[in-house]
Amino acid sequence: MDVAAQEVVLVTDTPPESHEPGLENLLTEDRRFPPTPEFADQANAQRGLYAWANADRPSFWAEQARELLSWEKPFEEVLDWSKAPFVRWFADGTLNAAYNAVDRHVEAGIGDRVALHFEGEDGTGRSLTYADLQREVSKAANAFTALGVGTGDRVAIYLPLIPEAVITMLACARIGAPHSVVFGGFSAEALSTRINDAQAKLVVTADGGYRRGSASALKPAVDEALTKGTPSVEHVLVVQRTGQDVAWNDELDVWWSDVVDTASDQHTPVAVEAEHPLFILYTSGTTGKPKGIFHTTGGYLTQAAYTHRNVFDLKPETDVYWCTADIGWITGHTYVVYGPLINGATQVIYEGTPDTPHRGRWWEIIEKYKVSILYTAPTAIRTCMKWGEEIPGKFDLSSLRVLGSVGEPINPEAWMWYRRVIGGDRTPIVDTWWQTETGGIMISPLPGVTETKPGSAQVPLPGIAADVVDDDAQSVPNGSGGYLVLTEPWPAMLRGIWGDPDRYVDTYWSRFRGLYFAGDGAKKDADGDIWLLGRVDDVMNVSGHRLSTTEIESALVSHPWVAEAAVVGAADETTGQAVVAFVILRGDAGGGDQDADAVQTELRNHVAKEIGPIAKPRQILVVAELPKTRSGKIMRRLLRDVAENRQVGDATTLADSSVMDLIAQGLSAPG
Ligand code: PRX
Repeated sequence: MDVAAQEVVLVTDTPPESHEPGLENLLTEDRRFPPTPEFADQANAQRGLYAWANADRPSFWAEQARELLSWEKPFEEVLDWSKAPFVRWFADGTLNAAYNAVDRHVEAGIGDRVALHFEGEDGTGRSLTYADLQREVSKAANAFTALGVGTGDRVAIYLPLIPEAVITMLACARIGAPHSVVFGGFSAEALSTRINDAQAKLVVTADGGYRRGSASALKPAVDEALTKGTPSVEHVLVVQRTGQDVAWNDELDVWWSDVVDTASDQHTPVAVEAEHPLFILYTSGTTGKPKGIFHTTGGYLTQAAYTHRNVFDLKPETDVYWCTADIGWITGHTYVVYGPLINGATQVIYEGTPDTPHRGRWWEIIEKYKVSILYTAPTAIRTCMKWGEEIPGKFDLSSLRVLGSVGEPINPEAWMWYRRVIGGDRTPIVDTWWQTETGGIMISPLPGVTETKPGSAQVPLPGIAADVVDDDAQSVPNGSGGYLVLTEPWPAMLRGIWGDPDRYVDTYWSRFRGLYFAGDGAKKDADGDIWLLGRVDDVMNVSGHRLSTTEIESALVSHPWVAEAAVVGAADETTGQAVVAFVILRGDAGGGDQDADAVQTELRNHVAKEIGPIAKPRQILVVAELPKTRSGKIMRRLLRDVAENRQVGDATTLADSSVMDLIAQGLSAPG
């Protein structure tokens, strides 16, 4: 999620065993919060949902798909798992995502309901009703078609969080063109890789957006991405948001105001098959190359709508919902765009940072729009804790009735603060575990049913099957830890990695036969509730955003000063964890002559340029050697000990056991 600040860094690549001390604290957590009878009585999701789903999981999902979505052609087939791990849901049905998110609400007579309250960082804003959205999305769909985008063509989106971002995603869905949103904090380099991997025909961007009180440019990154060679791109469509000067290429560039604003507002949505790709979203894996996770239409939308309705207890007539995620992340796809709009919700979207122009901006927004459901990330909550409770204390937050958390484990103290200070000791908290790959929430309390425990995501939702297993794929008993797996296919499951089916099978389905390997460590407590413990692979989680250690290491070694690099995630009080890099400099290339500060600045900026500001290491430590096993594998566990100022653990498998002493000496030496 895009949270407190882009510099807020969270890293979770720690294997489960190194979490053990903290884990004991977690497992002795004995605070419990049952739903109030008033909340339970009115809740959308009642306890019976579990039994219903358990009785026949595929039929349960089929019922949800029929009830929550409108189909152009109803499906007969439900689940096809015969070619596992490739799955198909509702495959003989056809539908359109934008029709479901917008048009059908207008047809149902609620076109004058506000869909989006847009709050710009600069204080400007506007509200769009469902009828407004229908007109805007239709215009954009007509314009995209006129620019040559057809059903099945890919569109890259590189926009700030403004209404045009939502409109663009829906316009793509309306014509059946899969979108690939690239977070605005990613660099030109990252953007061009993603454009090329998806072979995008159109790029939609803006002159800039407002961030931290000033206009920050976006179009130059697109221009630069295109200079790297992106032969598939035929046009760049530019929204004018800030009015700043932009370089212009007459052959490629077109203004939104010229082609979208002038287009017809009548458009017939294209019905696509349920398994037609809806979007690609790149996320980091354990290698340097990001994975293009792709999701299809029918199953994804079913789970988006179902989870949004039940986990947040959405009452579309009365609630005002706000998810603070940027659309550049999966949370923005499922819980800003598709889930809420399919359910006919009224929601807030906010362009900027929580501390602009003051640290109470979020709470001011909640007071202004009477937000009743808030969905955000632990890293943001911890930042607000640090700023002090007197800040939210100045605002009227009494409209809130459900609070959600996502992106990383939420430590019990942050959970308690969230509930007490933001929720007035009244609101249920739903700690929701899921991933880009799962498409929608998988493990979470149900707010009217579950007695919540601070720090635990607790139970798989009705319709979802998860377990914690040991190295031999055996389910662990209560009180034990292991790896989180998903044991049955679910509707919003990723359908693969764009263009790389083998990598899909290898990454998720090879670790344990027949089970989806999530890459997270987890533990079951005495009640069988699940506690998430962070990643067990080399994936890090930066502000709840995923990056791979390898990706940052490759960025570092692409700098001429760097001979070798190793990156680890180190615990950080506010941000959960932070990126720490260890580098060996090349004496011959100028790096050796620099002082430590100059190296830090240069290399941090280099990582920002290669990947994006979100990937900047908090710290870069220059070392003479890296700890390696005899087979040449870097022992990140030992480096993590150093980064976290801990006594270095067992180093007996090192090829050269003196390396850790060298590192320790080097770090304590001045300069
Ligand atoms: O490690 C888990 C963590 O975030 C990872 C997924 O990251 P991403 O695909 O970027 O999606 C983030 C938003 C859904 C997971 O593998 N994670 C996410 N939610 C939680 C979590 N860890 C613990 N508790 C959560 N609620």
